[in-house]
Amino acid sequence: MSHAVFVPDVDDQHKEIFASLSDLQMALARGSDVHPQTERLTHCIVDHFAHEERLMRAARYGSLKWHKQQHIAARRRVVEFLQRLEHGDTAAGSELVEYLSYWLNSHTRLADRMMAAFLRNQRRGPWKMTFQAGTKPADACDWVDSKGDRFKPRPDA
Ligand SMILES: [Fe+2]
Ligand SMILES: [Fe+2]
Repeated sequence: MSHAVFVPDVDDQHKEIFASLSDLQMALARGSDVHPQTERLTHCIVDHFAHEERLMRAARYGSLKWHKQQHIAARRRVVEFLQRLEHGDTAAGSELVEYLSYWLNSHTRLADRMMAAFLRNQRRGPWKMTFQAGTKPADACDWVDSKGDRFKPRPDA
């Protein structure tokens, strides 16, 4: 799947968003009431953004603010389209589909992939080994935990 970011819970939610977007597209093509489809799509998006933001906060992800800004901007645009739809502007439905398809494609391919790479790296293990250039041989190699604090893997004998 071209949108895969390889974090299973995030990928599942992306699939659901794309599925509800295509349901909306079909309902628009049929000319039927699109309220159930827009409701579902909105719920999926709101839940998904909140989920990603929780994950990023918990992982102390450095680009959280930048990523969250993109979510906020997209949510604002979606609300505008929905308000126009509610006021009987039928063109707003297809414009919403067009906007979200484009936005989701670019956002998942860049921002979500960057986030996912960071999360996968962090989930891989609590410790990593770093090599530093120290002035003494004993400083040349350190263990650090996920926050970057030094620790000794085993107490000295
Ligand atoms: Fe995102
Ligand atoms: Fe996402």
